[in-house]
Amino acid sequence: MHAISQIARDRVTVAPSLLAADFTQLESQCREAAAAGADAIHLDVMDGHFVPNISFGVPVVKSLRKKCDLFFDTHLMISHPKQYAKAFVDAGSDLLTFHVECDDVVDDVLDECDKLGVPAGLSLKPGTPADTLFPYLDRVKLILVMTVEPGFGGQSFMADQMPKLAQIKREIKRRNLDLLVEVDGGVAPATAPQVVAHGGSMLVAGTAVFRAPEGMAKAIESLKANTAILDCDL
Ligand code: DX5
Ligand code: ZN
Repeated sequence: MHAISQIARDRVTVAPSLLAADFTQLESQCREAAAAGADAIHLDVMDGHFVPNISFGVPVVKSLRKKCDLFFDTHLMISHPKQYAKAFVDAGSDLLTFHVECDDVVDDVLDECDKLGVPAGLSLKPGTPADTLFPYLDRVKLILVMTVEPGFGGQSFMADQMPKLAQIKREIKRRNLDLLVEVDGGVAPATAPQVVAHGGSMLVAGTAVFRAPEGMAKAIESLKANTAILDCDL
């Protein structure tokens, strides 16, 4: 398992979302992303219940693990993450991020992650208030702020989530916690500066990386060109 400490905190990092990759070429797409400077690969798991879409599951993660050495940042958009946590860890996930709106008791899922020895991340949908996360901040290693309704790649970035992102970042700073703040949905070179200015440092980008006309390396470089404002006052 890769340690979550390998994800840098002092600069912008990029986790390309495999959802936008060519599914007939997952191995080479993953390798290409790694060579292009990806810090992790973001794996969007959807169950057709928590979100109205089905993507891929355990067998794909397990197969890719044998071919790709990137940090596996697994985003579980599923109603019952507790039940599937072990399978994803066994398949090679390095982090399990699940939703505060899931049908399981959040503390139970966190207990399960502790038991499995896998770091947990917690995500929230655009309509969910920031303070829903606050009771769990001490128990997680990452917060994932959604800037689209989860379920599909290629949607438009919701700039109205920026105040909430800043609110979460402020609370993390106030409590002096070592938490990564990841932002997911419509993140591209044009929207990344806002994300970074509001406290996000780990950028998920599907379309903007895997479908970049200029190629993945240039796209990742543009996304990372925001480091200077990482420590701005919120
Ligand atoms: C949406 C997923 C995202 C999505 C991002 O439910 O969680 O990770 O794939 O795709 P883009 O970057 O295309 O918005
Ligand atoms: Zn995602």
